[in-house]
Amino acid sequence: MARRSLAVAVFVGMASVVALGQAGPAGGHPQLRTQGTARQLIVDGQPFLIIGGELRNSSSSSLEYMKPIWQRMVDLNFNTVLTPVSWELVEPEEGKFDFALVDGLIQEARRYNLRLVFLWFGSWKNGQSSYIPVWVKKDYKRFPRVRVRNGETIEVLSTLAEANWKADAKAYAALMRHIREVDGADHTVIMMQVENEVGVLGDSRDRNALANEAFARPVPRELMEYLQKNKNELLAEVKKRWESAGFKTAGTWEEVFGAGPETDEIFMAWNYARYVDRVATAGKAEYAIPVYANAWLSSPSRKPGEWPSGGPLPHTMDIWLAGGPHIDLLAPDIYQVNFQEWCQRYARRGNPLFIPEMPGQMAGPRNVFYAIGQHDAIGTSPFAVDSIENPKDAPLSKSYEAIAQMAPLILKHQGKGEMAGFVLDKENPAVKRQLGGYDVEISLDSIFGRGAELGYGLIIATGPDEFVGVGSGFRVAFKPRTPGPALAGVGAVDEGVYRNGKWIPGRRLNGDENDQGQKCRFDSRRINIERCTVYRYE
Ligand code: DGJ
Repeated sequence: MARRSLAVAVFVGMASVVALGQAGPAGGHPQLRTQGTARQLIVDGQPFLIIGGELRNSSSSSLEYMKPIWQRMVDLNFNTVLTPVSWELVEPEEGKFDFALVDGLIQEARRYNLRLVFLWFGSWKNGQSSYIPVWVKKDYKRFPRVRVRNGETIEVLSTLAEANWKADAKAYAALMRHIREVDGADHTVIMMQVENEVGVLGDSRDRNALANEAFARPVPRELMEYLQKNKNELLAEVKKRWESAGFKTAGTWEEVFGAGPETDEIFMAWNYARYVDRVATAGKAEYAIPVYANAWLSSPSRKPGEWPSGGPLPHTMDIWLAGGPHIDLLAPDIYQVNFQEWCQRYARRGNPLFIPEMPGQMAGPRNVFYAIGQHDAIGTSPFAVDSIENPKDAPLSKSYEAIAQMAPLILKHQGKGEMAGFVLDKENPAVKRQLGGYDVEISLDSIFGRGAELGYGLIIATGPDEFVGVGSGFRVAFKPRTPGPALAGVGAVDEGVYRNGKWIPGRRLNGDENDQGQKCRFDSRRINIERCTVYRYE
């Protein structure tokens, strides 16, 4: 695990803490890099797995309030905390910036050996504009709002007004300049979320004068060119709408995509993507660390506008890819039960999976194994983690403790087709994967007629005939897929721990613990790490 030593820069004043150009950890600023089919987050020159959690919205607005929270984040075994930073507190008066809070958060994170992902609550948070400074709130003429179907103006900044994105981008750029100045050598801040769950609520699109005018104009040339250039790779959702309107290469939004709320949503997706991209670009010009946009998810029983219309949803992903080339990833906030389906829908078109919000209790501590093991996620981050009771003993803490031990191994095998993640229950008691030249069957554990009700974990093919697994309540069987003896036996199973990436074996598991040599078993009473060798015979 790429945790740094506790030696940290001491904060003397507000902005001068770590001078630019001072020697810092190797490898340049945080960035994304490709390994096989995966995109990895690189911090201090090394791949980094975000084992994180997101604070509740208002916690980080007070350093005093945060005081007891930092240790709880450590107790939950986090290496990263997702921490809101708001426009209203950064620029309380136009042109006057206050970074005292930002500095305090960075300083405290360093003291606890934690990294930060800052969430820029700028123009929007949950589709609303509650975090804009009061001087923006009051000046509704200069900073136009969204108008919805009944002619009502709602308290949401309009994407169509240049003054809006320019003011937001200016504040965000000042923030990024400051982060570079104080953290450009230390890399405590490893990624930025730009805005939060954007989109119009209450209608499928903005209907103010600027928006109506833009909607009646032709689809912008950049989007038409993107669609044509990527025609074969487009996801079915957008392609179908374009196809059913006749694959036109020019025309208004309704001519190119047909009329209806879905087209309104495409129009809004383009305008939100362009806006967020402009803000992100202004920030990257100051300090180019990775940025992402997060989404409030849709639901089949609802219509655009009942979820924020125009957010970075999988069914408009192509529009966001076209309109937001400086946004490094699109990230789902997954509170819905079909967690795996949402992961699959976001892990398309080369989009690296990162989950900034999900439940931290119930299924959350199990689902992190699926996201990381099955989709090479760059990290997971349940929401409202500062309210988790008994953090040291919480299920999330246990899952993360095991994942943290495995992190170097996980990162080494990302993007190579050598890893699988899974969650099993009575409805889905088994999954089959192909790993390391074997068909691997992973099923709910059972022994002597007693069966586990839940199973979860991840398994990695670490070498010829060798696997390392972590998790609980499952058993693994192997069947060869390559020429040679047709049967596979379990050679030896060792439980153990990784300390600083080094394997320390514990018990040799045989007898009942590996079902008399037939399976690699993971006891449902704890989360175990096991190393298993396999041999072939006939
Ligand atoms: C999603 C938002 O992104 C969070 O800021 C928070 O409001 C949660 N919803 C509440 O469940």
